[in-house]
Order: sequence, then structure tokens, then C-alpha cells
Amino acid sequence: MATPLQQLLIAGLAGMVLATPLAAKEPTNDEIQSRIKPVGELYIEGDAPAVAAAAEPAGPRSGADIYQAACFACHGTGALNAPKKDDANAWAPRLAQGMDVVLKHAIDGFNAMPPRGTCADCSDEDIQAAIDYMVEGI
Ligand code: HEC
Repeated sequence: MATPLQQLLIAGLAGMVLATPLAAKEPTNDEIQSRIKPVGELYIEGDAPAVAAAAEPAGPRSGADIYQAACFACHGTGALNAPKKDDANAWAPRLAQGMDVVLKHAIDGFNAMPPRGTCADCSDEDIQAAIDYMVEGI
């Protein structure tokens, strides 16, 4: 018969063994989607103004800062088929539209690309800087 202390140790060990696989569980696609989904929601014209229009641009930031904070979730990983940073094949046909069209798509949103890439306090110049950073290696 085990002493109470031995029983306690055995229970503790069993707990650790049982808890480990749970902690290591891979996130499901749904969980990943919900983590990377845009912060903003769609709104219909005439409704309350979108946060993107209301927020004041924050101070000067580099394109790299903005990319890391707002764009990397999709453009660093290719999530939702976003063109990845420095992927010439993915960017060439987009850049061929002309930078003004590309910038407009990034500001207004384009299919799964959310307006301003969810960076509500990014100015137009900030968005341009982040695009420049994403394609500078091409
Ligand atoms: C939630 C994911 C997501 C985030 C965050 C995101 N993008 Fe995108 N972006 C996309 C997807 C998906 C596309 C491709 C859309 C398509 O072509 O259908 C795209 C396309 C673009 C394009 C190409 C537009 C064109 O004309 O082809 C630009 C430029 C762009 N994003 C800029 C940005 C910038 C700058 C940021 C950060 C401030 C950002 N994106 C953040 C998903 C995202």
C-alpha cells in the first residue's frame, strides 16, 4: 500500500502525463482563421462610418513597422492567398496595373484584402510605405 505522500506524487505525475498532449494540441483551421481575421467588419454605405475613416493617423512609422504590425499576418504567410512579401510572381501582375490602382485596392479593400489591411490609423502614405516595403526586394 502506498503512503499518502507516494499517492500524491503518483497523482501529480499522472496529471502531468495526461495534461501534456492537451497543451501541445495543434490549432484547428477555424482557430487560425479567427486569430487572423480582420479586426474590422464590413459596413454598408450610409451606416455609421468605418473605424478606418474615423481614426486619426498616428505619428510617422516606417513601411517595415506597418508591415510587421498590420500586413504580416497575411502577406508574410500567404494566408487567404495574399501575395507574399518579395514574391515576384505574385506581385508582378498586380504592379502591372500601376501603383495608383494597387494603392487604391489596399486603401479601399479588394476581395479578401481588408481596407487598409485593418490598419485603421494608417494614413494613405503609411499604406504606400508598407506596399513599397513588401515589393522592395523584387
Ligand atoms: C486579412 C489578411 C490581409 C491583411 C491583414 C492585409 N492584406 Fe493585403 N491582401 C490580402 C489578400 C488576400 C490579397 C489578395 C486579394 C486578391 O487579389 O483577391 C491582398 C492584396 C493586397 C495588395 C494587392 C492589391 C492589388 O491590386 O492586387 C496590396 C497592395 C495589399 N494587399 C497591401 C496590404 C497592406 C499594405 C497591408 C497592411 C497595411 C495588408 N495588405 C494587409 C490580405 C490581407
